[in-house]
Amino acid sequence: MGNLFPRWTNTLAIKIAICAGALATCVVAVAWYSWTPKHTRVGYMPQQPIPFDHSLHAGKLAMDCRYCHSFVEESSHSNLPAAQVCWNCHGPGKVKSDSPKLEPLRAAMDENYEGYTGDPIEWVQIHETPDYAYFNHSAHVNRGVSCVECHGRIDQMPVVYHAKSLSMSFCLDCHRNPEKALRPVDQVTNLGWSAEDLSQDEFYAYLAEKSGKPADDLKAADADEEWSQELVGAHLQRLWGVNPPQQCAACHH
Ligand code: HEC
Ligand code: HEC
Ligand code: HEC
Ligand code: HEC
Ligand code: HEC
Repeated sequence: MGNLFPRWTNTLAIKIAICAGALATCVVAVAWYSWTPKHTRVGYMPQQPIPFDHSLHAGKLAMDCRYCHSFVEESSHSNLPAAQVCWNCHGPGKVKSDSPKLEPLRAAMDENYEGYTGDPIEWVQIHETPDYAYFNHSAHVNRGVSCVECHGRIDQMPVVYHAKSLSMSFCLDCHRNPEKALRPVDQVTNLGWSAEDLSQDEFYAYLAEKSGKPADDLKAADADEEWSQELVGAHLQRLWGVNPPQQCAACHH
């Protein structure tokens, strides 16, 4: 049987199979891309065991996100704070320690409290990627992608809600045009930041130092360009060699 067909037909068959498979994948992908509901989870705002207010803690009190979400730069997962973190400020004799709103905290931490259980506070998870999709916080946060791109103005929310769709097309829209989002890494948790806040001289000095090109040349090359997020982002993209993946296997292992 093996000699009935010339050898090239075997490879031809494989090629046809691959082409057909790739085509099917494309059709499926395009269909899904266009049909994925963009706003399915937007607005989801579950009630939490403690009415924790980000607009107070991260807004008015200006606490950095990483004080509580402390692994976000190192880990794929952004952790929620342990009750001990709240206890640092809301422990006995400190801020509002007798507030009825903080009863679940006392149940977790205060051995002298009649309702003490020692159980962690059961926060309701709001943002969640399905198991078949892979997502990594540190890969984004360390590449100058701010929390605000994917979670909105958390620092202005009295109650956290799902602000962005986080659908596959949402991920890919940015992966195609990352210059619209990239900012200096030290501004990632400064949600109100905009390119206008950046000193142009300092930015060109930074580019010059990292790229070895004279700052004046870099500045002259941009003379016709408007100072904008896209301009800043495009420089950072080139400098850092940022190239977000678009192939299926990057997000679907
Ligand atoms: C004082 C501690 C604290 C600080 C500071 C803080 N958070 Fe939170 N964060 C929490 C707690 C507690 C929750 C869970 C309760 C809730 O959803 O409000 C939470 C929830 C969240 C969620 C939703 C989690 C989910 O289930 O999907 C996001 C997103 C988030 N925080 C982002 C931020 C960002 C961005 C900042 C900085 C601007 C920030 N947080 C600052 C304590 C904090
Ligand atoms: C760095 C200190 C600090 C930390 C850490 C902190 N808080 Fe607060 N919290 C405050 C301050 C200050 C207020 C405002 C108190 C006031 O209104 O006088 C406050 C107010 C509150 C209130 C409102 C209480 C009331 O009765 O009005 C709640 C609820 C609360 N925090 C929950 C939490 C939780 C949950 C955590 C941990 C995730 C936490 N806080 C972490 C400082 C902190
Ligand atoms: C590129 C998009 C993106 C950026 C940037 C981003 N996040 Fe997220 N975040 C997500 C996605 C997607 C999820 C759901 C993840 C999952 O299921 O593991 C999530 C989940 C979370 C959660 C909930 C984790 C849990 O298990 O309850 C917290 C808290 C959070 N993010 C905080 C932050 C903070 C703080 C920053 C900035 C320092 C940030 N995120 C930046 C996309 C992002
Ligand atoms: C606002 C822009 C933006 C959004 C939104 C975004 N990404 Fe990214 N993503 C990036 C950038 C920038 C990189 C870094 C690329 C590099 O280092 O070359 C990246 C890298 C990645 C990588 C490769 C690094 C790794 O972790 O293996 C994966 C996978 C990824 N993103 C998945 C996702 C998923 C899933 C979503 C949606 C939930 C998403 N991204 C949303 C900008 C974004
Ligand atoms: C940048 C990351 C990323 C890339 C690249 C990517 N996907 Fe996805 N994909 C996701 C995320 C995140 C979800 C989950 C979306 C949600 O929760 O709504 C998803 C969901 C899906 C689904 C489930 C249906 C749906 O939309 O909810 C299919 C099927 C799928 N992707 C196929 C593909 C194929 C085929 C490719 C290659 C052409 C691809 N994906 C490339 C991130 C990605």
